[in-house]
Amino acid sequence: MIVITGATGQLGRLVIQSLLRSVPASQIVAAVRSPEKAQDLGALGVVVRQADYTQPATLRAAFAGADKLLLISSNELGQRAAQHRAAIDAAKEAGVKLIAYTSVLHADTSVLGLAGEHRETEALLKDSGLPFVLLRNGWYTENYTASVPTALAHGALLGSAGAGRIASAARADYADAAAAVLTQDAQIGRAGQVYELAGDTAYTLADLAAEVAKQSGKPVVYNDMPEAQYKAALVGFGLPEAIAGLLSDSDAGAAKGALFDDGRALSRLIGRPTTTLAASVTAALAG
Ligand SMILES: NC(=O)c1ccc[n+]([C@@H]2O[C@H](COP(=O)([O-])OP(=O)(O)OC[C@H]3O[C@@H](n4cnc5c(N)ncnc54)[C@H](OP(=O)(O)O)[C@@H]3O)[C@@H](O)[C@H]2O)c1
Repeated sequence: MIVITGATGQLGRLVIQSLLRSVPASQIVAAVRSPEKAQDLGALGVVVRQADYTQPATLRAAFAGADKLLLISSNELGQRAAQHRAAIDAAKEAGVKLIAYTSVLHADTSVLGLAGEHRETEALLKDSGLPFVLLRNGWYTENYTASVPTALAHGALLGSAGAGRIASAARADYADAAAAVLTQDAQIGRAGQVYELAGDTAYTLADLAAEVAKQSGKPVVYNDMPEAQYKAALVGFGLPEAIAGLLSDSDAGAAKGALFDDGRALSRLIGRPTTTLAASVTAALAG
């Protein structure tokens, strides 16, 4: 049995799609906060169980019989370390044999504000005594291509990443990596492995603006601004303060290289090149 938490999230759904290529649906458990959102997964034969990080009893029941557990980090910023602790405790009680956890690129040294909760979770995993694998995921390219419609509307892509090089990859690439660790030979899924996962090629936000301009045939330039000004602009576009702060902090981190890695562990793990920036822009323009 392979159990996936956050299975109704964007990454979780892609992991399940990837697993279904090699694992019978009846051996996959979608552990989800809201089972009503997982009816389509149930229709595929995937086992759906309720698992809310804030309700430990649901976690213990959801993880029962699991050989491997993919703990997809929660999106409830500020609550995550406590939520992940509950999941790790439940995994231990349920006798899970291996946990893979979606951390962040270079979690141990990252300057990103969001890395703190990942560091805490990695420490909890080490203290738990459970065998674990760290999937230190870099940035999703979709985080940036989500801005393509706004950039086209204004002729400018805003950010505060300066000339920082960003080695992002598509969510589907990280999902395939998680599926590989959960299903492939013992060497790849060996306990103690730490995978620094990032795209094969890196780009600056000026490169991204140029790619959008090239593919759309419309003028788009990159407009770099100080972190506080970028945050204010995002709030002005209607983003909640916390999300705006997270994005601007991440851009400031990117300027210092926090989203860069050239180890190519991701493409080695998935056995193919990572999705190119050009392909991600094409997908974003197609809507
Ligand atoms: N690498 C990156 O660039 C990047 C970017 C953004 C986020 N992340 C991290 O990677 C994770 C996965 O990414 P994603 O794109 O799949 O995010 P997502 O679509 O927001 O999915 C997050 C998942 O967490 C689940 N969740 C939240 N609170 C929960 C709770 N109390 N109990 C159980 N499940 C809970 C959500 O459940 P529901 O489906 O019920 O809402 C959802 O399935 C995120 O949660 C975040 O930690 C990484």
